[in-house]
This record gives sequence, C-alpha cells and structure tokens, in this order.
Amino acid sequence: MRILLAFLLIVGLSFYVMASSLSRMVGDFLFEERITNDRAQLEILAERLSPSLRGRDMDALRHEMLLSGSEMGGRVLLLDENGKVQLDTHGTLNGQLFPVSEVKSILVLGNQVDYGIRDVQTGEKLDTDSMLFLSRNQGQWESYCAAAVVHESSIIGVLLLISPVDAMMDRLYLLQDQMMVIFLLVAAAALLCSGAFSHWFTAPITGLRRGIQRMSKGDFSARVSEKGSGEMRELARAFNSMSEKLETLDQSRNSFVSNASHELKTPLATMKIMIESLIYQPDMDRDLRTEFMTDINKEIDRLSTIVSDLLTLVQMDSQSVKLTRENVSIAALCKETAHRLEPIAQQKNQRILLTLGDPCDLYADKSKLNQVIYNLMENAVKYTQQGGQIKVTLVKEGRDALLTVTDNGPGIAKENLPHIFDRFYRVDKARSRESGGTGLGLSIVHQLVLLHGGAIRVESEEGKGTSFIVEIPLHQG
Ligand SMILES: Nc1ncnc2c1ncn2[C@@H]1O[C@H](COP(=O)(O)OP(=O)(O)OP(=O)(O)O)[C@@H](O)[C@H]1O
Ligand SMILES: [Mg+2]
Repeated sequence: MRILLAFLLIVGLSFYVMASSLSRMVGDFLFEERITNDRAQLEILAERLSPSLRGRDMDALRHEMLLSGSEMGGRVLLLDENGKVQLDTHGTLNGQLFPVSEVKSILVLGNQVDYGIRDVQTGEKLDTDSMLFLSRNQGQWESYCAAAVVHESSIIGVLLLISPVDAMMDRLYLLQDQMMVIFLLVAAAALLCSGAFSHWFTAPITGLRRGIQRMSKGDFSARVSEKGSGEMRELARAFNSMSEKLETLDQSRNSFVSNASHELKTPLATMKIMIESLIYQPDMDRDLRTEFMTDINKEIDRLSTIVSDLLTLVQMDSQSVKLTRENVSIAALCKETAHRLEPIAQQKNQRILLTLGDPCDLYADKSKLNQVIYNLMENAVKYTQQGGQIKVTLVKEGRDALLTVTDNGPGIAKENLPHIFDRFYRVDKARSRESGGTGLGLSIVHQLVLLHGGAIRVESEEGKGTSFIVEIPLHQG
C-alpha cells in the first residue's frame, strides 16, 4: 500500500511539473502574441497621434482614438508626460492621474512599451508566474498595453489600450481543464498499473508466506504456484521441492511407525493366545505344552529380530551409524554364509553354487557386509522352491567388487520390483510372514551397501528367477 502511494505521489508530482511548465509555455505564447499585436497597433497610433497631442488638437485626437479603440476592441487612454489623462475613449478618467505601473514604466523608466494583465474590478495585476490553476470565478481580466508617444526622441505622452482578454483567458482555462482531465486519467491509469504491478509483485510472496504458514502447522501438502519473475519462480520451486520431500518423509515416517507397530503386534498376539491356553488348561498334554513353549520361543526370536532390524534402520536414518572397518575378504564371507545356510538348503534339496573369481579384499565393516550377503542368500534360499539352485558369483570389475546372487525361484513381478527395497515391503505378505520375514531385510541391505559407497539392483523374471547385483568399491574412503 505504501509503495502504491509513493508511486502515485511521484506520478502526480512529475505530472504537475510537466503540466505547469506546459501551461506557462502556452500562456507565455498567448501573451507574446497579444503583446506583439497590441504593441504594433499602438505604436502606429502613437505615431499618428503625436502631432495632434503636441498641438492639443483634442477633437482630432478624440476622433482618431475612438476609431482606433473600436478597431482594436478596447478602451484607449491618452496621458500626457505627467501621467494625467488627456483623453479617455470612455470619458470617465479625463483630467485625472492614472498611476498604473505600465504607464510609470514608460514615463519614469523610459521604456517604449509595457504590458500587464489586471483584474477588471480591483485593478490588481496578475502574476503571470502563478497562472496555473486559476479559478474561473477569481474575476475578469483585461490587458493593459502602454506605448510611448514620442516626439524628437523624447516621450511626450503615453497611449494606453485597455482591452478584455476573455478569449485568451478562456483558452488558458480550457488548457487547464484539459490538463486536469489528462491528469485524472493518467493518475487512474497509474493507480491501476501500480495496483496490478504490486499485485503481480507481491502475489508470489503472499502465496509463499501462506504455504510456509500451512507447513508450520504440519500440513506438508502445501504447494505454491510457480509463477512470477525468475528469482521468485526459483524460490517457489525450491519451496515446492522441499515440501514434497517433507511430505514424503512424513508419510514414510507414519507408515514406518504403523508398520512397525503392526509387525510387533502380530507375534505378541500369537504369544498371548498360546500363553492363555497354557494358563487356562493346566492339565494340557506334556508334548503339546512343549510344542506351545517352542512356538512362544520362536515368536520371541522373531520379535527380537524385528526389534534389532528396526534399531539398525533407525540408527542408519539418524546417520549416527559408524563403520567399524577391518580387512575383509568378501569371498570368505560368501563361503561362511553358504556354510551357515547349507542345512536349510539341504532340507529343501537346494544347491548353493559358489563361483568366487577373486577374493575381493577390502577395508570395510565386516559384520555389515556379512549382513548384506546373508540377507541376499537367505532370501534366495527362503523364496526358492524345493530342488532349486542358488548361484553366488564374485568378480573384480574395475575398481569394484561385483557380487551376484542368482536363484531360479519364483521371481518377482514387474510391478513389485520398484518397491522391493522399501521398508516392510513383502511381495506375498502371508507367505513371507509364514517364513518369518518382515520385509526389512532388503531395505537394510540397500542402506548398508550405500554406506559402503556401493550400489545394488535387482533383475527378475516371474517364474524364472531373481538376481541381486551388488557393486562395492574395493578402495573405501
Ligand atoms: N530371491 C527372491 N526371490 C523372490 N522373491 C524375493 C526374493 N528376495 C526377496 N523377495 C521378495 O521381496 C520381499 C522383501 O524381501 P526382504 O528381504 O526385504 O523381506 P523378507 O525376506 O520378507 O523379511 P526379512 O528379510 O526382513 O526377514 C520378500 O518378502 C519377498 O517377497
Ligand atoms: Mg529377507
């Protein structure tokens, strides 16, 4: 609003300056024109009257003056060298002194001609410098044009022509009115423009402020329009991308909490049912009791796995996780893991084939790398059907260790592949929970690989099998 007023003030002032100089220029021009005209006529008349004045031929003077007066459209006065009116075409000032400045200028200062605009009623002279914005009812004006009557280069009298200047003043008034109209139009246009400009200028800022307010109240869906000038658009874009990230973060945090609670609730509910059966059936068969206890023990194991997985993830999220580095051989880790999984694989009549082309020694966190390899190979064993085959290959490729865990299991459908590294994501919810999975394994693997500066991707075809490919830089740092 303040900018608007300042803008308007500047426009108004500059317009006033422009209008006043224009009006003065036009006024000057009109006066000049009038003076030149009156002066030429008066000078001719003065010259003609000079002999009659010297001879005091009053009749001839009166006749000439009446004739010229009506010709020039005004009242003509002839004054002697003392400023006394010798002849007045209106007859009222005869014999009187008429001490106006225009007459004095000739008699006292010796000018040939002088000019002024005076009020009809008061005879007050108009200051032509303050001509702008005259009010129409300020009075009527008439022009006083005085010319010296000269004989042998000495002034013997003054000829004064008093004529109305209504037409000239009307032109000035009209100009003034036109200026006023133009001023109002310009001011209205300036007001509109500055309003539109300030709206255009402040709208993005207002939008941004509202967006920030919404966000500070916890509404992360707030987005602002990316319109406006270059800098503002960049700012709006940055804001939108920030709120988008915050929204995703907020959603993932919410779903993480609800998933985690759900995962913890399931084993607790199972345990509760079994424990209640144990309590309310004290005479339960010994074998059945042992079976129940074993199941409860399994659920406790499951719970503790979930909790430790969650802790790992939370630690990695807060980026407080530190790598405890030592010399590790990825090949050795693969052999160890294969050995650990061998009993389960044998149970399912599966074969684990290791092709370790390079030991891939590096300075890294042994237990975390072990977790990566174990999770991938465990998944392969877990999800591949009876009699399946799991191939683990390790090669050195450039500066990276390239580990591939391939199985000929059920594969993963295309639509599920993009989510495979998401937390709590399981393709077949019921079946993988049955096999003890919570859907945290791969997301932990993903984070651990990233922590080592590596990358992981998956290739899979339904019905044919799955390959997880991990690249880890051999030179950590
Ligand atoms: N080799 C594989 N073959 C087919 N499906 C797989 C394979 N590996 C993972 N999946 C699918 O991806 C899902 C996510 O795997 P992830 O390891 O993250 O979780 P999980 O094995 O269910 O549980 P967790 O590893 O936390 O015990 C699995 O539930 C499974 O459906
Ligand atoms: Mg798993």
